[in-house]
Amino acid sequence: MTIDTGKVYRLEDYRPTDYAIHATNLVFRLDPAHTRVTAKLDFERREDAALDAPLVLDGDGLKLLSVTVDGAQLSPDAFEATPDRLTIPRLPRERFSLVIETELAPEANSALMGLYLSNGVYCTQCEAEGFRRITYFLDRPDVMSVYTVRIEAPKASAPILLSNGNPVESGDMADGWHYAVWHDPHLKPSYLFALVAGDLGRITDSFTTRSGSIVQLGIYVEKGKEARATYAMDALKRSMVWDEEVFGLEYDLDVFNIVAVSDFNMGAMENKGLNIFNDKYVLADEESATDADFANIEAIIAHEYFHNWTGNRITCRDWFQLCLKEGLTVFRDHEFSADMRSRAVKRIAEVRTLKSLQFPEDQGPLAHPVRPRRYREINNFYTATVYEKGSEVVRMIRTILGAETFRRGMDLYFERHDGDAATIEDFLKVFEDVSGRDLSQFALWYHQAGTPHVSVSSTYDEARGELTLDIEQSVPPTPLESRKRVMHIPLAIGLVGKDGRDLEAASSETSSFADGVIQLKKRRQAIRFTGLSERPALSLNRGFSAPITLASEQTIDDRLFLSRHDSDLVARWQALNGLLSDHLIETSKAPALQSNMAGRLAEVLGAIAVDDALEPAYRALALTPPSEADVAREIGSNIDPDGIRAARDTLVDTIAAANRESFEVLYRELEDSDSFLPDAASAGRRALRNVLLDYASAAQGVPGLAAGQYRNATNMTERAAALAVLARRFPMAEETVSALADFERRYGDNPLVLDKWFQVQATIPGDAALSRVEALTRHRAFSIGNPNRVRSLIGTFASSNQTGFHRADGAGYRYFADRIIEVEKRNPQVAARLATAFRSWRSLEPSRQELARKELVRIAAVPGLSTDLKDIVDRTLA
Ligand code: TRP
Ligand code: ZN
Repeated sequence: MTIDTGKVYRLEDYRPTDYAIHATNLVFRLDPAHTRVTAKLDFERREDAALDAPLVLDGDGLKLLSVTVDGAQLSPDAFEATPDRLTIPRLPRERFSLVIETELAPEANSALMGLYLSNGVYCTQCEAEGFRRITYFLDRPDVMSVYTVRIEAPKASAPILLSNGNPVESGDMADGWHYAVWHDPHLKPSYLFALVAGDLGRITDSFTTRSGSIVQLGIYVEKGKEARATYAMDALKRSMVWDEEVFGLEYDLDVFNIVAVSDFNMGAMENKGLNIFNDKYVLADEESATDADFANIEAIIAHEYFHNWTGNRITCRDWFQLCLKEGLTVFRDHEFSADMRSRAVKRIAEVRTLKSLQFPEDQGPLAHPVRPRRYREINNFYTATVYEKGSEVVRMIRTILGAETFRRGMDLYFERHDGDAATIEDFLKVFEDVSGRDLSQFALWYHQAGTPHVSVSSTYDEARGELTLDIEQSVPPTPLESRKRVMHIPLAIGLVGKDGRDLEAASSETSSFADGVIQLKKRRQAIRFTGLSERPALSLNRGFSAPITLASEQTIDDRLFLSRHDSDLVARWQALNGLLSDHLIETSKAPALQSNMAGRLAEVLGAIAVDDALEPAYRALALTPPSEADVAREIGSNIDPDGIRAARDTLVDTIAAANRESFEVLYRELEDSDSFLPDAASAGRRALRNVLLDYASAAQGVPGLAAGQYRNATNMTERAAALAVLARRFPMAEETVSALADFERRYGDNPLVLDKWFQVQATIPGDAALSRVEALTRHRAFSIGNPNRVRSLIGTFASSNQTGFHRADGAGYRYFADRIIEVEKRNPQVAARLATAFRSWRSLEPSRQELARKELVRIAAVPGLSTDLKDIVDRTLA
């Protein structure tokens, strides 16, 4: 574990290395406690480097056995080695090769960075700075070399030996060992290196690229789980076709392998030709995975595959540029999923994710620009801002330039930068070059943190048929940035007439309004529409064209009208969601508030539920009121989680009671007698049915319906949803106790499925959750060393159980802080990620605020804290 030193890395300090590495030859002799790594690195001093420049290589906790330069063993006074650095002050000539021997203990690697063992399988994770835990290296993305890797291992325990690139040779050795050699012809940075060795099952397939090359595809999983990898394989082939069709990008090696491992810090990793996945994002069948799991697998398989071009062929100059590959690749996987599924539904799901994960980040102490300028620990910048807001920024470029020009820009990007370690400036430049536009103001989206706020007021002149919009923008201050500059915001709008159709109008400023998009570039901007035949309802930020918060003076009637009739489904959903949210905010503060709003909302939702013109998946989204966390975020300060929960429960009860009969009828109609299909349409019907189950159960006030669905479920989507309704609505009921016991019995040997069981219990509302979570950490299937278990039980409790985590007595915070401290000892990266659940502590009411602060201070005071956790806790308290 790297203990915090307080060192800060700054973007402006970037300079290239003095030495380049042309070839990296690695030999691994694998052993759980004594793996021997021999790295032969061919160096060349760069032209502009000083002749006497020392060579300084990165390490992290390394045990060095020997170093030679051009075949000669270095005497101990010719270099300086610590676990974290190897310095050679004098080098013989311009080109030289270094052979470094290190010894590793993968079995003792609980941080899951570098080489480690997961269920007896050797695997690696090198992004961002894990390669330095394997050998001394210039471990940064702008040092790119050609890798040849030889793996040696006992044939019995590790029949499968994989690395990047193409297989070149394999064979037997003495004493039951064997070896394999892999060669990757493409230049790559060290963070894309990967190795896997173990006794794995596999499924294979092949893919013929558009230009006729045949690619062998393999997905490796734990033996016995092969059948559960077929959906991932299907998603992979669809991703390969899609990237050829939509971006003209083909795969570039003879093989493409994916390995699923059960201990993994994040979702998946795009290592060249050898993606390594958290098994949760590979394994699925109807019996064990929900529709949401299938959708995630499809998206993440695509995401990692798409990195082959956006990330691998064109990589990042330094880690400040992380969004260059991540934001762009998320944009690409979003577009892929939109094409595979329903575009509108996918977009609404993206907006919900952005608001629930990125907005709180942008509005709290951990706010940072999409391209940060400083960091202490890069692992802490794999954030919703870099990924999700980074994707929104790419989407806005397309909105501003139009799809066709955007595609020409992407083509130029691949043509100009293939093989480069590039920057955000390089990326923006291609779009300026193809469009002739100046994107310098737009670039603020990369440089300036905070969610811009846009307020719109309108006046309508009946006699003239003129509508004037007064639009004002501002960006709230964020840590280290108190003054903000004016942004370029593409705001898509529509003027909706009484029949629901968009009205035709001429606009005063053609330069700033075209294709329904207003280009906001000033702090205040007025825009006039003329030639209107009636007063329109204003549809704002259509398609969520910009990741902003929005305020507009609109009547309840207009908003209700838009929530039924806006031709843009995303804006329609936003109108409805805004009404639900505003109502929940009001009633959470004044529970006794008398208004007929709840009744009107119940009526609208009742109409949407049975509107056959709408896809079931859309109806399911519309019928789901904002979560307690959503409402808390919208309130923003002095938050009382109990009041929010009461308001939400009351609203759900009102909607349920008002529509009791029709919801029950529809629930029964939606019963699926066909065999299971994981496609979007079938998933949408199941989603709607599951929302209705919750309402119907609320109306009935008894667990019978949910218990019945649980018993008769023929797939995990139905079963898990029924279990959730039982546990959250009727936690003490006999039916719930027996369903939980049944689930545990059924899936006791399937940890990924048991994670759902942990999750559902972690979200039982109220004070009782904590003791349940505590007890479950002693369950035989729980393991504090496995990130999926930790996130399912402890992470879910903190991030998704508002009333449980934010217990008024602070016991939730205390327990959670203890677990963070416990996890940190093994895995600082996972601990730091957990700790971000405290990020909105200043928005709580004063007494909870103080209780949360005390726990953060307690964590910060633990001696010898890792850089990962210290960085998060310090920034959260700052
Ligand atoms: N590059 C990976 C992705 O987004 C993210 C990732 C996987 C990662 N494992 C990691 C980042 C470990 C940091 C550390 O596809
Ligand atoms: Zn990624």
